[in-house]
Amino acid sequence: MNVLGVNCYLHDSSVALFQDGRLVFAAEEERFSRIKKDARFPRQAIAAALDFAGLTFNALDAIAFGWNRGGLTPLHTLTAELTGRLAPSPMMLADSFIAGARELYHGNGLRALRRSFPVMAGQKVLFVDHHDAHAWSTYALSGFEDALVVVVDGRGARQATSLYHARDASLKRLRTIDWPNSLGSFYEAFTDLLGFERHGDEWKVMGLAAYGEPTYDMSRILRVVPGGYKLDAHLALGRHWNDIRRLEALFGPRRDPEKLITDADRNLAASVQKATQAAIFELVREGVRLTGCRQVCLAGGVAMNSKANGRLLASELVDDVFVQPAATDDGTAVGAALAAHRALGQPVPRYRLRDVYLGPEFSGRELEAVLRAYKLSATRVVDVERQVARLLADGSIVAWFQGRMEFGPRALGNRSILADARQPDMKDRVNECVKFREGWRPFAPSCLEEAASDYFEGCRDAAFMTLTFEVPASRRSEIPAVTHADNTARVQTVSREANPRYWTLINEFSQLTGTPVIMNTSFNLRGEPIVCTPKDAIRTFYSSGLDFLVMGDFVIAKDRAWQPEAVRRRERALV
Ligand SMILES: [Fe+2]
Repeated sequence: MNVLGVNCYLHDSSVALFQDGRLVFAAEEERFSRIKKDARFPRQAIAAALDFAGLTFNALDAIAFGWNRGGLTPLHTLTAELTGRLAPSPMMLADSFIAGARELYHGNGLRALRRSFPVMAGQKVLFVDHHDAHAWSTYALSGFEDALVVVVDGRGARQATSLYHARDASLKRLRTIDWPNSLGSFYEAFTDLLGFERHGDEWKVMGLAAYGEPTYDMSRILRVVPGGYKLDAHLALGRHWNDIRRLEALFGPRRDPEKLITDADRNLAASVQKATQAAIFELVREGVRLTGCRQVCLAGGVAMNSKANGRLLASELVDDVFVQPAATDDGTAVGAALAAHRALGQPVPRYRLRDVYLGPEFSGRELEAVLRAYKLSATRVVDVERQVARLLADGSIVAWFQGRMEFGPRALGNRSILADARQPDMKDRVNECVKFREGWRPFAPSCLEEAASDYFEGCRDAAFMTLTFEVPASRRSEIPAVTHADNTARVQTVSREANPRYWTLINEFSQLTGTPVIMNTSFNLRGEPIVCTPKDAIRTFYSSGLDFLVMGDFVIAKDRAWQPEAVRRRERALV
């Protein structure tokens, strides 16, 4: 049975393909279109999924969308205004009507689907409630039997937060909190006020928070109430749902993105983060009280807050936390496809997700063809993991392009930029010559799973960089490049089963240096999506200060004098 899940039209358009109960392919449209956070109908991602599985469109049994058809957005906005939860605003209502008209026109993807595939062989087309899709995407892949599911995003069709009790492959919705009472909208508003992009830069606020003290009293805007939280939408959202003028009156004008970040900005970020964490904790406390479950599944954009997730895992409140790696709307393609199984009378697939290497891959022959076409000088090495471990230990910054592309926002060792986590200046070097981004932003470590608990407190299985852990005092000076200002790190634990080549590379590095941890950041330039194809990789390599590009077994060096140290006869010069 072939079920395709689709997310489109709001942000992070994506596709997920299940075959006989296994997730076999998933990818975001942005990786193919090269438009960051592309929200259009994911034509190219669908084509890639079908190509990967060797299917024609008509071999699909069902297509499921992660939104209800016609979310009736204007009605919700009008209701919010009439009930006094939102300041009355003709502009907002007009905006909502335009959004609603667009929804009806697009049929949430149905129109584009029919245009792309005019001859449909009677496949079922389903529309899944947005928060249900989020909830399925995390529960079904958590491996938990009985779990509390917490979905928190900016805005679903109507809901901003939903709590579910998941048991025996079914979801029971316990509570919803409707927009505009939205944690996601609260975080977005302050992301904007701090001079960042309100959709997609929220994690910069989280990173900045580590440098500040929560000195601002946020209780006028967001406060914890029994069982949840209460946002003053009049203040946070203003007369238009992205109007921050009232916040500016309270906290000062929006930070000029070109200007230096001040202590006041850092403290505001810390205050926002603290208030958000308190609200998440209260939601989980309420969910645990209602369900009796201490295993928690998280999804929705706010679940990308790895700092809050890590705190939650370390707390007494819960026993275990699973975060859907594609927690924002890209994951709803997975959730919609899961929910569709039930609608088709099939059991909903459930298992523990071990990796997200679910995108396209390129064979050695394809890599070689691209290198030849571009007339690039590359060296094919047999022991590529050992060679690269040595390069990293020598201080080189290496682009690492291997196997299948990751699904979700994190590069996890297949489309990654790697560097030595032991070198104190490495963060600045990578920032300056590769990522061209703000120097204060943290970089994440990849660590051998076997050594994780030695380097990160309480860390066992954290395969997706969705949780932060404390770096113990004894290790901070060993891995300074990946230890954030508040002594935490957003860890990826790497298992031999999930990614043998990446595990071997870190193991080689460990044998060489005694440290089983390397720095891992996504292989992309600032403002661009993570690379997908070898061509993307080469273009990015030559548009940056990267030292080496390693694709499969091929090593491309900018320094022409570079020679691998392995036995010469085992190598083959390509061009
Ligand atoms: Fe969402």
